[in-house]
Amino acid sequence: MITEKQASQTIAEILSSHKKEEKNLIPLLQEVQTKLGYLPRKAMQEIAGFLGMPVVEVWGVATFYNQFRFVPLGKYHIMVCMGTACHLAGGKLILEALERELDIKVGETTEDGNFSLERVACIGCCMLAPVVVVKDKIYPRMTPFKMEEALIPYKQEAQGEPKEGKSKSKS
Ligand code: FES
Repeated sequence: MITEKQASQTIAEILSSHKKEEKNLIPLLQEVQTKLGYLPRKAMQEIAGFLGMPVVEVWGVATFYNQFRFVPLGKYHIMVCMGTACHLAGGKLILEALERELDIKVGETTEDGNFSLERVACIGCCMLAPVVVVKDKIYPRMTPFKMEEALIPYKQEAQGEPKEGKSKSKS
C-alpha cells in the first residue's frame, strides 16, 4: 500500500509535468488516479492550488465524471462488465448480487479494505458474457450464485486462510 509520503511525491511529480492551465484539470485528475488508484482529497487540494482554482470547483468536476474514485481500491478489485452483451446477459443481476454480498455500492471499498467494486464498459470478451474480473482474473458466464462461490477463496485468503481449491472460472 502506498504511503502518504509516496502519494505526495507522486502528486508533485505529476504536477511538475504539466502547465498551470485549467484545461489540464482532467488530465491531472486522470493521471493521479492512474498512479494512485483513486483521487485522495489532498490531491484535489494540490491540483486546485497548482491551477489557481477553488477546491470546490475541482471537486465538482471530479464528481461529475463517474470515472473517478475517491477511496482506495480494495486488495481484490472487482470489475463487472456492463457493456451491451454483458448487460443483456444479466450483468446487472451480478452487480446487485455483489453489492449485497459485499455490502458496498459501485465505486466503494469494503471497510476492511479487501474488496472494491466497479462497473466497466466492454472488456472485449463478449462471447463469455456476462463477465466479471477479480484482480485481473476473468470469470466468464457468471451468475449471482457462481459469483458468490467465486468470492469464497478471496475471502479466505483475505482472512489469512489458505485458498481452498480453485475458483470456478473456465477458460
Ligand atoms: S460487453 Fe462485456 S465483454 Fe463485451
